[in-house]
Amino acid sequence: MKKFIITANWKLHGNNVLVCHFINKLKSYFDTNQIFSKIIFAPPVIYINNIKNQIQHNNFFIGAQNVDIHFSGAFTGEISIDMLKDIGVTYIIIGHSERRIFHHENNEYIAKKFQMIKSKNLIPILCVGENLQEKNLKQSELICRNQIDAILQLQEEDIFQNSIIAYEPIWAIGTGQTADIKHVNRIHKFIKCYIADNSNIKLKDIIIQYGGSVNFNNIQNFINSEHINGVLLGTASLSFETFINIIHNIDQYCY
Ligand code: 13P
Repeated sequence: MKKFIITANWKLHGNNVLVCHFINKLKSYFDTNQIFSKIIFAPPVIYINNIKNQIQHNNFFIGAQNVDIHFSGAFTGEISIDMLKDIGVTYIIIGHSERRIFHHENNEYIAKKFQMIKSKNLIPILCVGENLQEKNLKQSELICRNQIDAILQLQEEDIFQNSIIAYEPIWAIGTGQTADIKHVNRIHKFIKCYIADNSNIKLKDIIIQYGGSVNFNNIQNFINSEHINGVLLGTASLSFETFINIIHNIDQYCY
């Protein structure tokens, strides 16, 4: 089975004390355990340098939660892809529903970021997913398809190579209401088939994570499921014990 990918998105949480706690605990966990899954850790950008400098492990990577749409220039407060690259970032989350909602980022804007990230040889983690109303109207596939279409419309042959998609239904984020496994598998399969049919990437090479209220009690549902290649954790990644228990559990099955 392909390496299971666990991404931790800390969002706007954490401080120096929590970061130091995680660094110390992660280091000793990595020293005493074999890690089979791939871990992508995306804290607020200000903490990345410290974490990157202190934790070196073949299966541990740093992610950023966002990036600016410009490579450089007079854009006060923004951070560029090259700057993230400079501090050791490999993956960049884009299109998270919180950015779509609170920062009004639309599909075309996100597609542009996707293209820019690829052009600098970093790996985008593209979040897609429907809201509750759209789900109730049975539009989950339609919404995801529209979000994927914006990337396909870039008309770059290899655009989905070396990228990750995260299916994060908005109604499941931070609500404790995890999506039903059948629903997740159906949507993941749909997205994979759609991308494979409309670009030159093979279905087996498409990687999709699920995110939305994943925790230690429900993680088992997402392991060894044909179309689920990983999970994107929010709340569950903020407690070291929960985070590490999830990694440990996954590593029992995916190696
Ligand atoms: P929760 O795990 O807190 O639902 O957040 C999921 C998420 O948005 C990760 O990007």
